[in-house]
Amino acid sequence: MQFAVIGHPIAHSLSPMLHETWLKAAGLFGCYTMVDVEADQLDTFVQQVRARQFDGINVTIPHKSTIIPFLDRLEPAAVRAGAVNTVYWDGDELVGANTDGTGFARALATRTHAKNSLVIGAGGAARGIIPMLPGHVTVTNRTNQTAERVAVEFGQSAVPWSRTLDLTPYDVIINTTSVGMAPAIDQTPIELTATTALICDIIYRPTPTRLLREATANGLDTLDGVLMFVLQAAEAFERFTGHPPDLALGEQVIRKQLEEF
Ligand code: ATR
Repeated sequence: MQFAVIGHPIAHSLSPMLHETWLKAAGLFGCYTMVDVEADQLDTFVQQVRARQFDGINVTIPHKSTIIPFLDRLEPAAVRAGAVNTVYWDGDELVGANTDGTGFARALATRTHAKNSLVIGAGGAARGIIPMLPGHVTVTNRTNQTAERVAVEFGQSAVPWSRTLDLTPYDVIINTTSVGMAPAIDQTPIELTATTALICDIIYRPTPTRLLREATANGLDTLDGVLMFVLQAAEAFERFTGHPPDLALGEQVIRKQLEEF
């Protein structure tokens, strides 16, 4: 079996290691590679997938939306997010899925029942996550106009971005921006004052981020990007192979790898 993650630029993806660990553990022969596909090569690349050169692919920036017209069908979560991170075969059909949000929803459901969530950011990752959250969602974003547009689209609300936002209404706070990601690891999107919320960050490099370190120091529960990364990959792996992967093994392999960076 042959799988790949495509993007541009594409470097240091953890997906090959994770999927190959799971392929091996499931006793499946296969390999998972990284392919750098520029925007004007996407058409040609999908033709290669259609020629059955690939049994499934993961899709990352900048192709998550632009790949949609090349597919036969989308899963409902991909329609809602307007973005695809997984492409797999269902018989003769190439199907687009978005497992970013479902992976996160699964991770979150193991920890709490979110009633009132604050989502920081309004980009592709936020769009995948917002429709999967139970209860009410408030969106805040550096570009307020985008937060308002996304909130209207998903029937939720928006508040203007501020580092000192009143956090008292929320039981879950999720950072979907790149603020705090390596190399700018000393940055944090908000000040954690007057909150008892579960704090989540989709960033996994580094893990924990400054936001999560401050949350822990304040005695708050956290959910990090590693678990979310492993769960979105697990949902892709299941669609690719029909096998549910070993989540604990996946998490262990990724955490160990991240320690070495
Ligand atoms: P992704 O697919 O990872 O969500 P994206 O669609 O480019 O990536 O979205 C990035 C998000 O991070 C956006 O919400 C962006 O805010 P803008 O809409 O104002 O661009 C946010 N973001 C990126 N860098 C940021 C920064 N330095 N401060 C605050 N927000 C930032």
